Amino acid sequence: MGLQVITMKVYRIHEKITKYRFGNPFPTDGVLVKGDPWEKEGMDYFQVEQGTEIRLTYKMDSKDMVWGLGENQRGMNKRGGIYVSYCSDDPRHTPDKKSLYGAHNFMIVDGRERFGLFIDYPGQVAFDVGFSHTDVIEIIIDGTDADIYIIDGEGLREIVRKFFHIIGEGYAPPKWAFGYQQSRWSYPDAKTIEGVAEAFIDHDIPCDAIYLDIDYMEGFKDFTVSEDRFPDFPRFVEKMREKGFRLVPIIDAGVKIEKGYGVYEEGIQGGYFCTDGEGKPFVAAVWPGKVHFPDFLNPEARRWFGLKYKGLIDWGIEGFWNDMNEPAIFYTERGLKKGIELAKQSENENLDMDSFFALKDAFIHMSNHREDYQSMYHHVDGKQVNHHEVHNLYGYYMTRAAAEGFEEIAPNKRFLLFSRASYIGMHRFGGIWTGDNHSWWEHILLNLKMMPSLNMCGFLYAGADTGGFGGDANAQLLIRWTQFSLFTPLFRNHSAIGGRRQEPFSFDQETTEMIRKAIQFRYALIPYIYSEYMKALLHRDMYMLPLAFAYEDEISRRVENQLLVGDGLMIAPIYEENALGRYVWLPEDMLLWKVDDYRERSYEIKRKGHLYLEVGLHEIPVFIRKNKMLIFGNHGRNTEVLDHRELYVVAFIEDRAQYVYYDDDGLTKDYKKEKYTEIRISIERREEDFEIKIENRENRQVKRIHFEMVDIHGNIAKKTVVLAAQ
Ligand code: GLC
Repeated sequence: MGLQVITMKVYRIHEKITKYRFGNPFPTDGVLVKGDPWEKEGMDYFQVEQGTEIRLTYKMDSKDMVWGLGENQRGMNKRGGIYVSYCSDDPRHTPDKKSLYGAHNFMIVDGRERFGLFIDYPGQVAFDVGFSHTDVIEIIIDGTDADIYIIDGEGLREIVRKFFHIIGEGYAPPKWAFGYQQSRWSYPDAKTIEGVAEAFIDHDIPCDAIYLDIDYMEGFKDFTVSEDRFPDFPRFVEKMREKGFRLVPIIDAGVKIEKGYGVYEEGIQGGYFCTDGEGKPFVAAVWPGKVHFPDFLNPEARRWFGLKYKGLIDWGIEGFWNDMNEPAIFYTERGLKKGIELAKQSENENLDMDSFFALKDAFIHMSNHREDYQSMYHHVDGKQVNHHEVHNLYGYYMTRAAAEGFEEIAPNKRFLLFSRASYIGMHRFGGIWTGDNHSWWEHILLNLKMMPSLNMCGFLYAGADTGGFGGDANAQLLIRWTQFSLFTPLFRNHSAIGGRRQEPFSFDQETTEMIRKAIQFRYALIPYIYSEYMKALLHRDMYMLPLAFAYEDEISRRVENQLLVGDGLMIAPIYEENALGRYVWLPEDMLLWKVDDYRERSYEIKRKGHLYLEVGLHEIPVFIRKNKMLIFGNHGRNTEVLDHRELYVVAFIEDRAQYVYYDDDGLTKDYKKEKYTEIRISIERREEDFEIKIENRENRQVKRIHFEMVDIHGNIAKKTVVLAAQ
């Protein structure tokens, strides 16, 4: 490829944000702010070249680190790897994989220079972050039309906040979506689901939702419910609600081709499906066999599909997960034909290395094939757009279809919604789960590393399949994973068909007991988790952060196995089999609470430095940062019955700490009209005592707060404050 320096248009988006526009990019709606044209020569930081693609290069310093890139393999520091943004349905997340389900082209270079970069391009983008050349970042955009944003700022968090400012406010799930959720592919019928619900009740394990995977449908057809397996579905939904559980059905991207099936017929009549090169609806096969894919990029098709959710909503459903929306393709006629022809030719042949592997590859690589994506088309504003060039928008726009539908169906209601495929900007419409991981210890650590990277890309409502989707979990893995996941906003246990059962009560009694305590702790923490989540959303901030985002020392900057959760906590989970402890780095003195039963509390001060921490299988180490506090309540069998009249605060105070407790109705969007509770707590260490001040706004629930305050020398004081009636 002959590369040449090219011209671009420059826009000033904000004092510290510059947009460089190449060609005529497809509007992704990733960024909401347009900016003004700006006379400026050249691009900051990067050398840019263009031929049939755009290539950016940046020379790194030996100590530079690179953050971000959302859903990807490897470390929080992305240096050393190649990452390819091309939403991929690949269920084996081995360390060599370059593409997972999301395409999150935001990163921060942090070292000699510090700046953020967002490549707004909906086709393939490859990031070589010091892999081919240890000190070079090379980014290859697979086309010539793209917007590139550079964000300057002093601090890492400041850069992220600026980025959040231009991509817009994130999605607020209902409060019940912060409860524990149980899933499995599949609980096939109403009876099985009732059994699962009863088991949660019998074992006294809190739970808010049970999932309906593909088998709830009739023949895997979207927006249908099998009458055989779910007779009187609306009544069943209601009955489950009475027991305290919400049901969350899956919706897949592909619509089954079947005469007489309403969704298919309407899609054909309305011209709502993606087409092939000849203008006929594009055909691919997924769960139900042959399907068409709705053209979510076309606003009319989007609205049509979004309003289809109404049927299930009218039956009492309040949450959905959108799946297979990369979109996943098992096969197309093209791929199948190629494979079969090759197989026929090979019959009775003496296959040598080349011909045998060609035959094998024809089947192995039949799914999710580039050639298929390249022969599918969208229709936007009267123009035909090749799918491959906008591939990364598909899951985002499917989720947008749903969210826009909900907005029309029930404008002020909050729905649970998350997706498998995603692109930056989708966080305004829903969350994500990280797809088909495995019951591997390595995937607990991957989950931990991914969370802050996803947060940086706007996705605060995120989580992984706790216990692992593929493979077989053992008791210990499920315990340790649950002890980590209880801090993630989406807290769902999900597993694949054929694998070992992994509900919290699927193992021995002792395991059930430990998982019960962990889940109860999650429910006790909801005042903190919800408060921190919503504040992050409203203040354009992160909820889970690498230590480097708060501590600048050289060790903290490179810690890859601990996280900050919200304003006050640091966690150091166990992610190794049979480990009964681990090394922890303390960037400052902290207060350690090893949680077993959260109602029994004891604390230890741990001094700044390296620490080997013993952690029994039943223990969850929680560190309260210096001059910070942790607020929590009591658990309940689900989020709806949580009683927050009494709250507890554990504070670790050197001189003073401040905390803002946030709460709202958890069901409506009234928080946008400033209808929320805010309790501002400040604690000051006085000579003999601690002074507590509380400012109370719109609080009708919390009556008393019980304080346990520990000073830097380990002196503990307890006080209860009765809140003024509002
Ligand atoms: C996909 C999803 C998984 C789901 C399965 C069946 O693999 O990622 O979560 O259980 O499909 O619907």
